[in-house]
Amino acid sequence: MGSQVGDGGAVDLDGTRLETMTPEPLLTRDYETRPSLVYERLRQRHGPVAPVDLLGVPAWLVLGYRESLEVLQNDAGWPKGLENWRARSEGRVPADWPLGPSLEVNHVLIQGGPGYRPLRTAWDAALKPFQNPRRPQAKRLKAAVGGYADELISLVGQAGGTGWADLSAQFSRPLPLMVASHLLGFPGSQGDDALMDMWRVLDAGPDAEPALERLLAALAELAAGKLEKPGEDFPSYLLAAHPELSLDELARELFMLLGMTSDHVGILISNTVVEVISGEGGARASLSAGMVRESMNRVVMRKPPLVNFVPRFAAHDTRLGNYTIRAGDPVWVSSAAAHADPLFADHVESATVSTRAHLAWGAGPRQCPARELASTVAAVGVGRLFERFTHLDLALPVDQLPWRSSPFMRGLRSLPVRYELATTPEPPTARVPAAVPAGPGRNTAQDAGPAEGPAAVPDTGQDTGQADPDVRRRSSLWRYLTGLIGVGR
Ligand code: HEM
Repeated sequence: MGSQVGDGGAVDLDGTRLETMTPEPLLTRDYETRPSLVYERLRQRHGPVAPVDLLGVPAWLVLGYRESLEVLQNDAGWPKGLENWRARSEGRVPADWPLGPSLEVNHVLIQGGPGYRPLRTAWDAALKPFQNPRRPQAKRLKAAVGGYADELISLVGQAGGTGWADLSAQFSRPLPLMVASHLLGFPGSQGDDALMDMWRVLDAGPDAEPALERLLAALAELAAGKLEKPGEDFPSYLLAAHPELSLDELARELFMLLGMTSDHVGILISNTVVEVISGEGGARASLSAGMVRESMNRVVMRKPPLVNFVPRFAAHDTRLGNYTIRAGDPVWVSSAAAHADPLFADHVESATVSTRAHLAWGAGPRQCPARELASTVAAVGVGRLFERFTHLDLALPVDQLPWRSSPFMRGLRSLPVRYELATTPEPPTARVPAAVPAGPGRNTAQDAGPAEGPAAVPDTGQDTGQADPDVRRRSSLWRYLTGLIGVGR
């Protein structure tokens, strides 16, 4: 058996098989609080690819930037699809493995095999009208995002022109949910209720299971409605591009869209806000130069929302880093670790590599198809925030902000800020309907001030972010949000 001094440690070269190793657990308390230290320790010990224990199941974690690209750009050599996982076919993945439920749902992000290509082509087609800035759907979406952002900011302001807010719960999380509802073409407030259920699922609390059942039922109902009466929305476009999709399959794709939009875009918004306020990584300088997107490149380099990607499997025995990965072994590319790889980070630091070389959207044929859409939503949202708040300060030191991590993502649990709103009149789309009382113990409609009439809706024929006030009043999302007004006072 060969041995070599890797980046800091002696490493077996050929003989070692993943299933005979006892790798260290990845998801520890250290990982929750200081993931960068965990990645560095693994890099020191193993080099650019390290064996890790993922909640009882061994896997290879790819920490190197070059090795990550090697995997991501070679889909034939490193295909997705759980059917390629040797340990799973040999019955060595426990039935109650905690990551099982999120990986066993077969949608475009997870799927490999012959069904994948037509599905991805249909996704690209269905997203195109929303991503091409010249198309009316993209223009309406952008207008809607600005409208939702203004509504949410005005709702925060109902507690007063200056005050305290949780910009995660009151802005970064609901904004993409509202966008998802627009994309999905949910009728009326039915969408908002489903969105609240998505939240419950993502938070994985005690009510997550019934929420998931309700959500999948709502999405199946939505899918059936779109089959009968197509609209100018993502589900209708996906069906048109892939008519063979069953209603169940369509509902799974919509679930995936909802999850990606609400969680990852929300994280991107919060992280951008923190970086801009705290001035870390040059984000503030870029923003003040009017370059919101460049700020986001910097933000996702330091804090990519999707920290570890879904697994791929070696098609053949393949050398990667200091190890031979056996056919059927799972590999997890870690964008967070790859961005910290000195071979990459040092080049970005010295500006010999562009900030756009980051892996936050993935790379290769399975790169995120919604980059433009997600960046637009985040850029418009962050832009409105810094236009309407003349002053935003973190209410906690940046290193004390609370993070939540899962094996896949890392984002802020809350984003407490002190704010001062501009005194300029609210934009017309931001006039919010009367708030309604929320649960006991919350500040509610009484604090929220009198109702304002519905704003003039530009004649676009579609949702511009200004909801029918009656519909809003009945919606659980809105009740939840009005319940948060001024909670920190
Ligand atoms: C800030 C927000 C987002 C980030 C950081 C992000 C990131 C990513 C990354 C890293 C991948 C590749 C994963 C892998 O290789 O295993 C991916 C794939 C994907 N993303 Fe996004 N995404 C975001 C938003 C969205 C949104 C809003 C949608 C849908 C509207 C979406 C749809 C998809 C799909 C369908 C794939 C699978 C592509 C494939 O396997 O062919 N993403 N995303």
